[in-house]
Amino acid sequence: MRRAIVAVIFALGVVFAIPAFAQIDCKPGEVVIKFSHVVPPRGHPKGDFARMLAERVNAEMNGKACMQVFPFSQLYDDEKVMEALLLGDVQLAAPSLSKLEVYTNKFRLFDLPFLFDDMDAVQRFTSSETGQGLLDVMSEFGVVGLGYLYDGLKHFSAEEPLLVPSDGEGLKFRVQNSDVAVAMIEAMGASAQKLAFKEVYGALQLGVVDGQENSWSNIFTSRFFEVQEGITETGHQLLAYVVFTPEEWLESLETGVREQFLTIFRETLAKANRQAVKTSEKNRQRIIDAGYTVRELTPEQRQQWVDVMRPVWGQFEDEIGKDLIEAAEAANETHGN
Ligand code: SIN
Repeated sequence: MRRAIVAVIFALGVVFAIPAFAQIDCKPGEVVIKFSHVVPPRGHPKGDFARMLAERVNAEMNGKACMQVFPFSQLYDDEKVMEALLLGDVQLAAPSLSKLEVYTNKFRLFDLPFLFDDMDAVQRFTSSETGQGLLDVMSEFGVVGLGYLYDGLKHFSAEEPLLVPSDGEGLKFRVQNSDVAVAMIEAMGASAQKLAFKEVYGALQLGVVDGQENSWSNIFTSRFFEVQEGITETGHQLLAYVVFTPEEWLESLETGVREQFLTIFRETLAKANRQAVKTSEKNRQRIIDAGYTVRELTPEQRQQWVDVMRPVWGQFEDEIGKDLIEAAEAANETHGN
């Protein structure tokens, strides 16, 4: 019963929230910049980034450019947003890197379980020459990667208490559109179902799937914790985004407009990334404060997750490239230097 009430409240929350984020009207002659994403507009690194960027563009480029943000998969979900970008229907999109495997195998790197020890290592790798080079891998499709946006490490939630991977045997977990994630779940003896983000809450609530894996910010802001027995702090995989824009659109802007936009963009992205870890910690604490179960692992339990999931790397090593994997791993080793 509690679940049904929670589901209705959440659904109403989403429905009522949308008009509150109604778009500003753009004036004739302004360059229109539409940013479509799937998460809530506040309290989440991506929602916060999009909102902060729009606030600055609309204040500082008034008369020249106008930015509209469409959160909650209101316009497109991540599976469709890249097409919309290529068709020029939106100018900015930041899908999770896990959802790009239909375009390139390179971003599968970021899905390898237990690749990065922490978000500092992620930051070191993505700001390295190799990490920055990956921003260009989508250029053959006519889109430019403007920069990485961080969310956080992912954790499992489920209908059953999970402490070691064998606790997940026989359960069904929702995953993003990622074959690496499917292989990782299957390594646990569980089954995986790929579902769009907007379907996750309902699928958990109705028992279509027994669990899911996500960042603290997604688990909190999309209320997944309310329809799960508990969350296990596995930190097994990264959730990060690249903000993409169509190259043709960017090149079509007048030089002054493009430079001003890119300056605001870089400053806002840096600010959002500085805030991401804190946002993640706050969202974790909010779940605990609301009385829900968060399980921490002992080093021995964590090692069991690593032992089960790490062999998945072998299945994807050739297509990702051994050199790339080694470069990412090296970001852990420089820790503390
Ligand atoms: C997102 O953070 O953009 C969504 C991730 C997911 O589909 O789980």
